[in-house]
Amino acid sequence: MTSPDKGARPVAVVGAGLTGTSWAALFAAHGREVRLYDRDGDRARAALPRVRQAVEFLVSHDLAPESLARVGLEALRAVSDMAAAVVGVALVQEAVAEDLAVKRAVFAEADAAAPPDAILATSSSGLSITEIQEGLPGAARCVAAHPYNPPHLIPLVEIAPGTATSPETVEKARVFYESVGKDPVVLARDLPGYLSNRMSAALWREAVELVLSGVASVADVDRAIASGPGLRWAAMGPHTLYHLGGGDGGMRGHIEHLGHVKEGMLRDIATWTEFPADTVDVLEAGLADALAGRSAASLERERDEALAGFLMARAAAASSAGEAAATGSGGKAALPGAADNQVPLLPMVVQSAAGVAVEVAPGVTRTTLATGSRTMLVRFELEPGTAIPLHAHPHEQTGHLVSGDAELVGAEGSWPVQPGDSWSIPGDTPHGARSVEGAVIVEAFSPPRDDYLPAPPSVAPSSSTSAASTEPPG
Ligand SMILES: NC(=O)c1ccc[n+]([C@@H]2O[C@H](COP(=O)([O-])OP(=O)(O)OC[C@H]3O[C@@H](n4cnc5c(N)ncnc54)[C@H](O)[C@@H]3O)[C@@H](O)[C@H]2O)c1
Repeated sequence: MTSPDKGARPVAVVGAGLTGTSWAALFAAHGREVRLYDRDGDRARAALPRVRQAVEFLVSHDLAPESLARVGLEALRAVSDMAAAVVGVALVQEAVAEDLAVKRAVFAEADAAAPPDAILATSSSGLSITEIQEGLPGAARCVAAHPYNPPHLIPLVEIAPGTATSPETVEKARVFYESVGKDPVVLARDLPGYLSNRMSAALWREAVELVLSGVASVADVDRAIASGPGLRWAAMGPHTLYHLGGGDGGMRGHIEHLGHVKEGMLRDIATWTEFPADTVDVLEAGLADALAGRSAASLERERDEALAGFLMARAAAASSAGEAAATGSGGKAALPGAADNQVPLLPMVVQSAAGVAVEVAPGVTRTTLATGSRTMLVRFELEPGTAIPLHAHPHEQTGHLVSGDAELVGAEGSWPVQPGDSWSIPGDTPHGARSVEGAVIVEAFSPPRDDYLPAPPSVAPSSSTSAASTEPPG
């Protein structure tokens, strides 16, 4: 069998229902060998076509690298027992029925059979990882990793430790989920509903109340979110948006001017903690009107297409906003003096670059030093305690630690490097770096990326063909 993702270890998904199927698709799409196990073997086998379909969807919408997805699809299989599922795995993603006794039994079985360094993660929406891990020899490696449905499309995963979970497990889980394209949010502790479902529950209670009290129909309440705040929330979270809503005064200005209005609403909105008796009947009638017989499958297709579109648009917006922040303009910069600076007849044509730093993660800046027809040279500067998020290039790349301290991070672990060390990383391999004291790293990779092109210089570029003469690498 092909070794997925250049030696990355397999992943076991336990439970082949809605959530497990979607997790399996995400992991396979990022090149992992996935073993899908369900106590009902027919369910696991029947889920495989749905997993494949979801992987194809991700690839066709540029949400997963095709080369890795092909490897993951080739390795994907259903297995008939836990022992076979967990051999050699990096992580067990539990997605069985929402029942504490069932989850505890599954965790006990996985803990006994999985490699000692494998992470055991529950998808549970409402059960406590502290209760699930209680009494297990491997309690320290158990963690909550709560997805938002559908996990292969929604980037969020909420990672929460139980009282016996080790900090190393939380960090390993964070790195693992980043390596498969997730946007992990780490909570300080485990609490019912994590962040996302608590906020969803608060919103939904008011949505139900607005229908039950006759203010608006089910269809109109849904539109009031999907065509309004929901669109904004897909771009940014509520705190950032209200900060923007405060104009020059930011968040302080917003609360000073509009806080009393919000407080008036808070006094008025629903506070019940049990669904009123007529809730199901009223919502079902409202949905029947709103959906006019549309099937769940057709609604799911529309939802998934829209989600994929948002994700692609958001990535494009973040990339062009980064370039605009660096240039002070709204557009993507063209490489200055490209024709003038090219040196013909050299096997690799290098041209000087403006050397404008773009912040690519908090405290991490990337400066494009030079680009050629085949290769690009970039410099990363990491402030103390920051990290370059996991990313991959299609071909092999080389890197060099110029100064400071750094740890290279891969999907499976990390490697400390010293100033003067160089390394090479195979194509399509997720990698990043982090630094405790701060670091300067130079990377060369191919092919050059358009979105890494430097901003136009504020002064005329030098005519030198040496990248280092424009922006010394630290
Ligand atoms: N559905 C969602 O929107 C959603 C979102 C986030 C998290 N979750 C969480 O994911 C988990 C699964 O939910 P779901 O909606 O996918 O459920 P589901 O009913 O669709 O699937 C559960 C699967 O687990 C299998 N199973 C049950 N006991 C088992 C055992 N002992 N060993 C192996 N397989 C077993 C069942 O046969 C079934 O195929 C729950 O904990 C839920 O809270 C669900």
